[in-house]
Amino acid sequence: MAETDTTTTVRGPAEGRAVDPLLLRRAMGRFATGVTVVTTRRDDGRLEGLTANSFSTVSLDPPLVLWSVARRARSFAAFSAARHFAVNVLAVEQLSLCRHFAAPHADKFAGIAIDAGLGGCPLLPDALAHFECVRETAVEGGDHVILVGRVLAASFRDGDPLVFAGGTYHQIAPIG
Ligand SMILES: Cc1cc2nc3c(=O)[nH]c(=O)nc-3n(C[C@H](O)[C@H](O)[C@H](O)COP(=O)(O)O)c2cc1C
Repeated sequence: MAETDTTTTVRGPAEGRAVDPLLLRRAMGRFATGVTVVTTRRDDGRLEGLTANSFSTVSLDPPLVLWSVARRARSFAAFSAARHFAVNVLAVEQLSLCRHFAAPHADKFAGIAIDAGLGGCPLLPDALAHFECVRETAVEGGDHVILVGRVLAASFRDGDPLVFAGGTYHQIAPIG
């Protein structure tokens, strides 16, 4: 594919060159996602949570979901070892929670309202949806590890999702 004014081409190893990470990130930003906060509870009781947009459905029967955790994340060891995790799908009015859980804090849950989910995983009460999962499998994924969970419980409420696209946040608008 040739480069034009409106198309930026990211060439990969097939052409003998490494894909430029910044261009790759910009290309991936064209794929709009929701935003989640994934949480878990360590064996010693400490709570962990981070903002993640890699969440996706995998299977309805059995009910499986996935997300990927960066090896460099401070919570990587906790999520790697965790038997349970919970996915909190953020509503558009929860942008501040999205930013909070994407930044380092000594205790990310200080002052944050939570309910206790399965395995002690924290649930954010006003999230649009919750998926409470038991770890099914983990798959190596380069600088991330893909965690596949079996959904043990799910809940949702009406409302509008927070959307991440092009490196920034959006709200949805119906077109039909
Ligand atoms: C919109 C958005 C999506 C993100 N998605 C992921 C993700 O899917 N996986 C991941 O490991 N980090 C993701 N991050 C980065 C983490 O939220 C961030 O590095 C966080 O500080 C990690 O927390 P921790 O260091 O306490 O583990 C995302 C950040 C933002 C803003």
